[in-house]
Amino acid sequence: MAIKRPLVIAHRGASAYLPEHTLAGKAMAHAMGADFLEQDVVATRDGALIVFHDLYLDDLTDVAHRFPGRARADGRHYCIDFDLSEIRQLALSERRRAGQDQLRYPGRFPASAGSFSIPTLDEEIRFIQGLNHSTGRSAGIYPEIKSPAWHREHGIDLAAQLLAELGRHGYAGAEDAAIVQCFDGEELRRVRNELGCQLRLIQLLEGGLPSSLELAAIRRYAEGIGPGLRLLVGTGLLKAAHAAGLQVHPWTLRADALPPGFGSLEELIDALCPEEPVDGLFTDFPDRVLVFMNQRFAALS
Ligand code: G3P
Ligand code: CA
Repeated sequence: MAIKRPLVIAHRGASAYLPEHTLAGKAMAHAMGADFLEQDVVATRDGALIVFHDLYLDDLTDVAHRFPGRARADGRHYCIDFDLSEIRQLALSERRRAGQDQLRYPGRFPASAGSFSIPTLDEEIRFIQGLNHSTGRSAGIYPEIKSPAWHREHGIDLAAQLLAELGRHGYAGAEDAAIVQCFDGEELRRVRNELGCQLRLIQLLEGGLPSSLELAAIRRYAEGIGPGLRLLVGTGLLKAAHAAGLQVHPWTLRADALPPGFGSLEELIDALCPEEPVDGLFTDFPDRVLVFMNQRFAALS
């Protein structure tokens, strides 16, 4: 019996080659053949949903220069303190190390090249659906509800708004090409049980290794788990999660930031895909993961 190739999820786009969460990076990941394109979703002061990873704008934009005097006491400029019209004025560039000028990944796209901006979720979905239409190859979307408790403290029900936006774009059922992810288990349970979401749900995990009982509890509201690599390699979590009926989508495979003990991206993929492979992989390098995986799984079928 042929073993199914794990899904390749472009982590914030083709982030190894173009700045994260830019439409250019999403187009590149789409062209590379990624199965799903990820969106981290946060809200602005006026309640717009934008595709952006951090709660604050400092490490990816020129916010401090453009809006002097708007930082909080911790020195940071938070998305939730800016209206969409202001967010649109920001120049987005390659990620810098927190609070510093150096790039987080020096070998990636140069900070001074290109001209990018932060997309709204609506713009990004329309863009991806446009690519699906023009290329005839459909990539799915994979939005993450970022810090729902933080947003609630600021008067925004991020999960409800996100689901409404997905519904407007035709993503509502279990078979639709959208998977919703969140670290907050209570919120993801609410998404299923109170908000009635029928889309596939992935419980993101970091920190401690979940017990079999905890995995069984997750299975009551989610289709799978998204563990950090550290939780997965050599821990037995993959088998335990599969035994509980959960899919496993680990994060994040980066050729330029390998976990200790691995010499190459391909060696890492091999470790994650023994006879019983993971079901999906978040990666900044969708091209390399696809090439390797297509060869490996063609040989198995
Ligand atoms: O959502 C999967 C992975 O992206 C989780 O980590 O911090 O990159 O959103 P983060
Ligand atoms: Ca994410």
